[in-house]
Amino acid sequence: MPIARDLTSKDLYANPYPVYRALRDDEPWAWSDGLGMWLVSRYEDVVFVDEHPEIFTAHQENSLAERTMGLVMIRTDGDAHRRLRSAVDGPLKRRNVRQQWSAGLTSHATELAGRLAEKPEFDLVSDFAAPFAAQALMRTAGLPDVTTGQVVEWSRAFIAGLANHDDDPAVWERAGRARTEVGELVREAVARVAAAPDHTVISAMVHAELAEPLTAEEIATQVRLMISGGFNEPWHALATLVWQLCEQPQLRDRVLADSEALDAAIEETMRWLTPVGAFPRQLAVDHTVGDVTLRAGDKLLALAASANRDDRKFAAPDAFDIDRPELSDHLAFSLGAHYCLGTYLAREQLRTAVPALFNSLTGLRVSSTPTLVGWMFRGPESVLMRHDAQGVKGAAQ
Ligand code: HEM
Repeated sequence: MPIARDLTSKDLYANPYPVYRALRDDEPWAWSDGLGMWLVSRYEDVVFVDEHPEIFTAHQENSLAERTMGLVMIRTDGDAHRRLRSAVDGPLKRRNVRQQWSAGLTSHATELAGRLAEKPEFDLVSDFAAPFAAQALMRTAGLPDVTTGQVVEWSRAFIAGLANHDDDPAVWERAGRARTEVGELVREAVARVAAAPDHTVISAMVHAELAEPLTAEEIATQVRLMISGGFNEPWHALATLVWQLCEQPQLRDRVLADSEALDAAIEETMRWLTPVGAFPRQLAVDHTVGDVTLRAGDKLLALAASANRDDRKFAAPDAFDIDRPELSDHLAFSLGAHYCLGTYLAREQLRTAVPALFNSLTGLRVSSTPTLVGWMFRGPESVLMRHDAQGVKGAAQ
């Protein structure tokens, strides 16, 4: 019986990887009635999809993303996409992330870790990774006064809207509330930076030199996209990496002593537990692969998480191995026109937070195996940790 045909989200939520392996081996281009789309699972095919937007467009008529947040750049192609992307880009370039945001990330991570000194047991996700990623995102965006609780609620509301295939009115109401709240705060920020430009993403969008400048609503829409797609992923990745380093003390010591090893561990984290599991696309034209024909208008998911565990590309793909030769070939940030704009910010978050945490707390260890959930977005729900509660390392005792 075909593997994909009756597959639903529920079958993938707890652990999609066994299904992905079976798809790669037996049905690399598979139609799923349950999901209403094609599933593409092998590495080379996901690369092909990503590199051919003329066949597999990111634009979708009446997409759930547009209904939830407005016309986000990730659902546009061609000139419309270039206009939005070029306006957001500047503050998120590698050099600017290092110059403008890195020191603030280190001090925020150190401050959060310091607060945990008196708390011998804590949840890495809710007590550290989520507040850290929320503030990193909001400060870079240009909404520094927003609380972590607001970011959590907005991001959940938008993600629920993105997955609202059942058209649940309660989900639309919650997403609508988040959409309005973000819109109001962004409009205030737009007015502020119009008179006094700064280094934030909102300021970059306001002052972008475009033939057709962005409206306040277009700016708010791209900020909503950042909230739905730039918050969960860094905290998932951060929690995964800290957990893996606790599991492998030798690797932890190596990573803390050598920044190149830390960079390698960050890349391996992205591959091993890919935070954005799949990229949605739509067929712009008919396309035939072997004896399978995909029709114009069909929806498709390029399964990046599956591609990143494809043993046709990565040797022993289920192992967490920072010395693998194909380390940086992973597809966690995509690779086509929609290549993640937040890669440097995300990587810098991990580069600053991991040493801050381990260097601040002695005897840091995981106290129970984390539960991993999700497939479109996947990561640890919570990671319970303990430390020796001797106070902050290096502080007067
Ligand atoms: C570990 C962290 C992250 C991961 C794994 C990740 C992953 C991705 C992926 C896979 C895409 C492309 C999806 C597609 O092709 O359909 C994407 C796009 C995007 N990401 Fe990220 N992301 C991360 C962090 C961030 C952060 C921190 C920001 C905010 C600054 C951000 C902003 C964006 C934006 C604006 C796009 C759309 C780019 C475009 O359409 O041209 N991401 N991300």
